[in-house]
Formats: sequence, structure tokens, C-alpha cells
Amino acid sequence: MSGRGATGEEVPGGRQVRVEVFPDSERLSAAAASLVAAQAIEAIRARGRFLWALAGGTTPARTYERLAEPPHREQIDWGKVEVFFGDERCVPPADPRSNYRLAEEKLISRVPLPAAQVHRLACASDPEGEARRYEGLLRRTFQGRPWGFDLALLGLGADGHTASLFPGLLPPAGPWVAVVARPGEDFRRLTLTPAALNQSRLLVFLVTGREKAEALQAVLKGEEAMADSPVPLLRPRAGEILWLADRQAAALLPLDWTPFR
Ligand code: 6PG
Repeated sequence: MSGRGATGEEVPGGRQVRVEVFPDSERLSAAAASLVAAQAIEAIRARGRFLWALAGGTTPARTYERLAEPPHREQIDWGKVEVFFGDERCVPPADPRSNYRLAEEKLISRVPLPAAQVHRLACASDPEGEARRYEGLLRRTFQGRPWGFDLALLGLGADGHTASLFPGLLPPAGPWVAVVARPGEDFRRLTLTPAALNQSRLLVFLVTGREKAEALQAVLKGEEAMADSPVPLLRPRAGEILWLADRQAAALLPLDWTPFR
């Protein structure tokens, strides 16, 4: 991994958090792809399969592309990979706003992933019904495992949201999958909740761009400004949280977190 991580930082809630800073988004994407590949190889070796929750948004696109190219495409035994989605906009799968569409275009269509192992959040017609179906799928999938996902990728919005968990719109505790109606959007969303995400062995946030710098600083330092962000609720029981940020997104972090400055 080309970045050099900070030492494990204790942040509010006492969870172990690591931050890796990269000179630019291309090198962050290369490191993220290497990390996913390493996690997949280890999970398949140790447990026979790799359960991976994909992030939505645009940041992970280049990571997905790199995983579909040599060397990672050949390194990973895609027949033993199962992909899930951290959230989805409840629109048809071909809709440009769909998180599935981006993943399908950049990764899923380019690797030998069995279709039965691609678990789309198909919520365009019945979000509530799909939330219940997907929660049942997750409960069955996680049964008997030491944790849920081996890896969950997440993005970060400039307002401190992640997946479709928005400040001021957080779903009630309990359900693993929730329907979200965000003001101003003419579609609803489905999102995994902290109850589901906290069952991951490893949560990795991918954050790039100067427009994310204030949110990244605030959530990492537990600042009041982001007190209602969902990020503080993310405390994976079995694992850790890793932040991969480019130098622009890390611009406001203390100097010792930005070795490339
Ligand atoms: C969504 C995403 C969302 C995303 C962040 C960052 O469906 O909107 O899941 O949580 O990860 O908004 O988005 P970008 O990567 O496009 O900046």
C-alpha cells in the first residue's frame, strides 16, 4: 500500500481507527484495490468465501475498475466472492443514479462473478418489501460466521453521511436494512444500518476531494459539528475502521496524519 498510515488513533467511542493518506485519488484507488484483493484472498483461504459490501457514489469507481484489470482480476477467485450493496437508490438498475449500475459497469460485468452471488438491492418497486427480503438474506448469510461482511466499503458525503445514512434522517436502531426518504429526492433509498455494518470485520472508507475535508476532519475528531453524523455509530464489533483519503480530503487533518504534505 503506497500510503503510510498514522498510528492507530483512539477516537470517540474508543474504537481503533487508522487513516492512510495518499497523494491523489489514483494512488488511493490503487491501494484500495490491493486491499480488497488481499482481503478477498485471505477470506477465501481461511473461510472459503469473501463477503463484500460495495460502496455507492462515484469515489469507488476507479477501485472497481482496477479490480477488473490485471493483476487483481486473476488474483481473486471470483467464484467464491459474494457482493452486496451498502445502499441503493430505488430506481431501475440501468438508471444512471443507481449504485448497482456503476458497480455493474466498472466491475461486475468485467469479472467472472456468478450472477447468483451478486445481491442487488432491487427496491425500485417495493422498497419496504425489499428491505425485509434483504435483511432476511443477510441474517441467513451471516449465520454461523464469526462476523458478517469480511469487508464493507463506504464513502463519505460532505455533510457527514455514509451509505444512505444521513444526519437528521437516521433510521431507528434495530433493523439491518432501512428505507430512507431524503427531502428533495424523487426516489427513496435503501441503506444498510449500523446494526448491519457493525457486523463487518473491516470497514473501509474511501474519501477524496477537498470538498470532503471539513467532514473528514469533523467525523474523525468527533467534533460537535458532525455530532448527528452516522459515522460515530459505526463501531464494528469484530474489527476496525480504516480511512483511505487523498491529500485534498485530508487537508485539514493534523500534520502527522498527512505524511505526503
Ligand atoms: C449514495 C452513496 C453515498 C456516497 C457518498 C459519497 O448512494 O449516495 O452511497 O453514501 O458514498 O455520498 O459519494 P461520492 O463518492 O460520489 O462523493
